[in-house]
Amino acid sequence: MKVVVAEYSGVCFGVRRALDLLEESVEKSTENGAKVVMLGPLIHNPRVVEGYSRKGVDVTDIENVPSIGVVVVRSHGVTQQVEDALYKNKDLKVVDTTCPYVKRIHQLVEKKSSQGVAIVVMGDESHSEVEGITSRIKGPYLVISPDLTHECVNRLKTFLKNHERIFVVAQTTSRPASYDKLIAKIKKIVPDRKKVDVSQTICTATLKRQDSARELSSRVDAMIVVGGKNSSNTSKLYQVVSSSNKKSFWVEKIEDFSHEDIAKLKNLSIVGITAGASTPDDQILEMKTFLESLS
Ligand code: F3S
Repeated sequence: MKVVVAEYSGVCFGVRRALDLLEESVEKSTENGAKVVMLGPLIHNPRVVEGYSRKGVDVTDIENVPSIGVVVVRSHGVTQQVEDALYKNKDLKVVDTTCPYVKRIHQLVEKKSSQGVAIVVMGDESHSEVEGITSRIKGPYLVISPDLTHECVNRLKTFLKNHERIFVVAQTTSRPASYDKLIAKIKKIVPDRKKVDVSQTICTATLKRQDSARELSSRVDAMIVVGGKNSSNTSKLYQVVSSSNKKSFWVEKIEDFSHEDIAKLKNLSIVGITAGASTPDDQILEMKTFLESLS
């Protein structure tokens, strides 16, 4: 059996950096005895989180952060209020793994809004990345969902009418086509180009993984998606591959395959693997080795 891993799969730059920073903190803690905690699970991968739990790294929330030790902040970032609360405690070391692409949006909206510019954020209002972005805005803002429903467009029109200058950003994982649609809509409502400033803030890591998985799934006998069942980007990858390859499986680990699954996979000529942005390389390699052993 030939096993092919999608060109783009597994952890993105931001998650890899977050995992490296966590590992570094854990290594240091074995020397100095400082307790390390994660503020929310660092990644949506139960095996990784359990592995760290065995090393004594617990997942906590803002109410239960210890007053002493090390706290690791996730790559999606946190609100300004949470950040302030963490840094207030001088005996607590904050390891901020917020992805630099998300940090850049924080800095942009803070600067523009301080200059009196109103901000439009395209994204999911309840997502922690968007909460982190809006918490840094110093004036009026509007969060607009990418589906641009009739009600959304009406709110947008009112917001644009009420403000002289507008700055537009998008949540990093947004689809470029949705952002283009929003920008076109804004430019139609406000034809004066000098009044609207748009920033390109989309990170293509997620999209590249989906495109690459779609392409691979169309030319293999079966497709395996490796990643946490609680990971939304992994769920999206499964949707993408299962729509083009009927023999698609979503597993967190090898033990998740049933006997029937294994029987279906045996004797196939070529099988593809893709993995969510929270699946580390060793889990992808483990799956590849297992599938090759079925030949
Ligand atoms: Fe950063 Fe993009 Fe990953 S914003 S966390 S590199 S998906």
